[in-house]
Amino acid sequence: MNKRKALGYTQQTLADKLNVSFQAVSKWENGTNYPEMEMLPMIASVLDTSIDSLLGYKPFMVSDYDKRYDTADYYWGITPNNLCYEIMKLRPPIKPLKVLDIGCGEGKDAVFLARNGYIVTAFDLSEAGIEKGKKLAEKWNTHVDFFKADITDFRATKYYDIIFSSGVFHMIKPEIRKEITANLKECTNKNGIHAINVFVEKPFVSEPPDKDANWFRWNSGELFMLYYDWKLHKTEEIIFDCNSGGIPHQHCMDIMIAERVK
Ligand SMILES: C[S@@+](CC[C@H](N)C(=O)[O-])C[C@H]1O[C@@H](n2cnc3c(N)ncnc32)[C@H](O)[C@@H]1O
Repeated sequence: MNKRKALGYTQQTLADKLNVSFQAVSKWENGTNYPEMEMLPMIASVLDTSIDSLLGYKPFMVSDYDKRYDTADYYWGITPNNLCYEIMKLRPPIKPLKVLDIGCGEGKDAVFLARNGYIVTAFDLSEAGIEKGKKLAEKWNTHVDFFKADITDFRATKYYDIIFSSGVFHMIKPEIRKEITANLKECTNKNGIHAINVFVEKPFVSEPPDKDANWFRWNSGELFMLYYDWKLHKTEEIIFDCNSGGIPHQHCMDIMIAERVK
């Protein structure tokens, strides 16, 4: 269903493309019936996905980040991101505020915010990252509700006051960005804020030498546009030097803080 919606198809559109009734599509989606096996290649093709993915199969995979995090040290250090301080200025924790940290890595920012009195939930695709986050929280005698999830599949069902994400949104393919941000915006309380940064494409900034297969840089300004209906407190674009992978290169990043006003 997520795939169909991401492509902007109604059940009827999909049914027409597959030459079946929309009731058939509806039954597949609510699990009361399943398509014939021989239809799977056609469904996968129409939905621009794989049969594995249709069947919910995900290969067991130790992500590149699992390997990076499999050390005693903290790969990204434990100094919180500057955005955390900006969040604290805009929304000080003088009342219980709920935070969601998306792609929390080893938890440095989630733990920092929890230590400062926020009620923090955080997820990442890397199990190793989450385990280190839990250890860090324990060290500071604080609590973060950590769990493993993939930003591509995750859809918020609870409401948050602050949604934070650093260095992760480039994992979201262009065709599902609108749907994912719409869900996160919807699940934000009035006057809640989103503090997000994302790698963006610039013709004069080449792709990093150690980029992985799931690296989809955003267009410059694309993130800000998705928040056209929110109050923008910060919209900044920076270019910075990086030495990851041992080869000096540059990144361009858009940084945004936006507030849900209505
Ligand atoms: C550059 S790191 C940033 C980590 C953390 N936000 C920080 O700033 O310390 C990117 C993180 O995204 C996570 N990640 C990659 N793909 C993901 C996905 N599909 N869903 C959730 N997290 C993902 C990685 O495991 C990694 O921890």
